[in-house]
Amino acid sequence: SAILMVWAIIGYLLGSVPFGMVITRAMNLGNLREIGSGNIGATNVLRTGNKGAALATLLLDGAKGAVAVLIARLLAGDDAAQIAGLAAFVGHCWPVWLGFRGGKGVATFLGLMLALAWPVGLACCATWAAAFAATRISSAGALTAAASTALWVLILGPFRIFVLALILTGLVFLRHSANIVRLRAGTEPKVGQKKTPES
Ligand code: G3P
Repeated sequence: SAILMVWAIIGYLLGSVPFGMVITRAMNLGNLREIGSGNIGATNVLRTGNKGAALATLLLDGAKGAVAVLIARLLAGDDAAQIAGLAAFVGHCWPVWLGFRGGKGVATFLGLMLALAWPVGLACCATWAAAFAATRISSAGALTAAASTALWVLILGPFRIFVLALILTGLVFLRHSANIVRLRAGTEPKVGQKKTPES
């Protein structure tokens, strides 16, 4: 409906704010495209060497997903909240402002999930942390957390977000295609190691 389309646009606009890019430029930390993976997310901001900037990117990229869900649910209900959350994720991954060359969606995915169904969101964060602790590789945490989402929805509910969970899992994997190639080749760096840009 027209109402859901409006929430899709609002969610997209929120999600498309590339906080990693904004923060690194504002703090003069260099050009993210020429650092590490070239990605705009918190993991790559950390490769500038500034932990505060990386933490701020993680929290703000997460918050935009959460805010999209919360305002849509407050003003228009559960369906609008799901649409707004998905749209925020899409906005982060394909922002018009960056020629649709955005991020990989992990922080935004976790933020929107915490707002949509906090037990599932917490379980995904815990899964990220467990996989990261085992590997010290950010993308391994992200892919494991994404892959676990539908299972957490089945265990913790609500079932109405099951399809959204599957879509988000698929999109996180799609956005990590270069990471998956490196993981399979055994060349994906651990946090704290250098790597060559993707783009
Ligand atoms: O959140 C993105 C992370 O999973 C991978 O980032 O920069 O190592 O490709 P990066």
